[in-house]
Amino acid sequence: MKVALAYSGGLDTTVSIKWLQEKYNAEVITVTVDVGQEENFEEVEERALKSGSRKHYFIDAKKKFSEEYVAKCIKANGLYEGAYPLSSALSRPLIAEEVANIAIREGCDAVAHGCTGKGNDQIRFDVTFSAVAPDLKIIAPVREWNMSRDQEIEYALKNNLLINPKKSRFSIDENLWGRSIEAGELEDPWVEPPIEAFKYLKPLDETPSHPQEIVIEFKRGIPTSIDGLKMPLEKIIIELNRVGGLHGFGYIDHIEDRVVGLKSREVYEAPAALMLIYAHIDLEKMVLNRRILDFKPIIEHKWAEMVYSGLWVDPLMKALDAFIDETQKEVSGEVRIKLFKGSARIVGRKAEKPLYSPEMITYTSKSVFDQRAGEAFSKLWGLSSTMHYTYQKMKH
Ligand code: ARG
Repeated sequence: MKVALAYSGGLDTTVSIKWLQEKYNAEVITVTVDVGQEENFEEVEERALKSGSRKHYFIDAKKKFSEEYVAKCIKANGLYEGAYPLSSALSRPLIAEEVANIAIREGCDAVAHGCTGKGNDQIRFDVTFSAVAPDLKIIAPVREWNMSRDQEIEYALKNNLLINPKKSRFSIDENLWGRSIEAGELEDPWVEPPIEAFKYLKPLDETPSHPQEIVIEFKRGIPTSIDGLKMPLEKIIIELNRVGGLHGFGYIDHIEDRVVGLKSREVYEAPAALMLIYAHIDLEKMVLNRRILDFKPIIEHKWAEMVYSGLWVDPLMKALDAFIDETQKEVSGEVRIKLFKGSARIVGRKAEKPLYSPEMITYTSKSVFDQRAGEAFSKLWGLSSTMHYTYQKMKH
């Protein structure tokens, strides 16, 4: 049997290499996909090969991830349960697709991932694997072996597997769009996440003592520049993670409902994601008509839920994206954000084609709005309500 394994370089996937060989007598091919996690990929490759991988693939998917996945999330204001910008959720279908394609090319019999049976990531991998490579078996060693973390470490040491010495006590999943931090003492929802759990976020008493302003430009819903400097989306995200984190902004700590029905306490740091989504929401209010603004959140809610639930390949995603794209044609302009002590305040915005009309709204003599129209308007606007009040409510 030949298996292509999605390999992160962590303990679970390293132990999986050996376990697949022992349990399935498998020839294992490892695939590492770079979605912006900070990792020494040469070391990852070495770890894979020394732990028994026959062949290792490295795929730099940062550009694809930012342009085909993250960009859609920005346009969709994608926040699961109003809080989580879907960083891990967005990366899974991309990683799974890359692994499945390599599996097909290499003539594998199976694809494998290192997800547990308790989380969402298994669903995201399984669903995309099944879509892209329907004939291949899916193996998830961690779901099968039932080892505790300590037993895994023991197994790794016994089999001379290389494990990452810099391992943190938390379970971390990281990419351009955000960093998720789970387990360890965070399993107690009352416990405040310690500062060493974070990579971008500076402690609030060490952040700069003066606010910093930053201007983000959008074209058709997609960020294109920071402070007038044009950059690819990937670079914009890296820069905003840095500068947002420097000011202690980008902290998320919420109780999340997993697809399998469990509630979990999730901690994330996502300075760029929050800044870009909040700025995007703000700019949309300048340009979108009120009925689109009223309706789009229904689509956004479904979009986030679909992505969270691993249904990236579902045709509904395309339909939702088509609606969202239709709304983004005029979402071009700039948003001013002021970063200070853990907050990112939006302090100004301008759009290329705003619906906001200064000469209509102004209270000065320059106003072109005919206020006399207000009298008839409110009479008819309230007619249905006032008739009820007059003819029915007053009677009893
Ligand atoms: N709760 C998040 C999600 O379902 C994060 C999962 C992160 N995965 C991990 N292996 N730490 O998308």
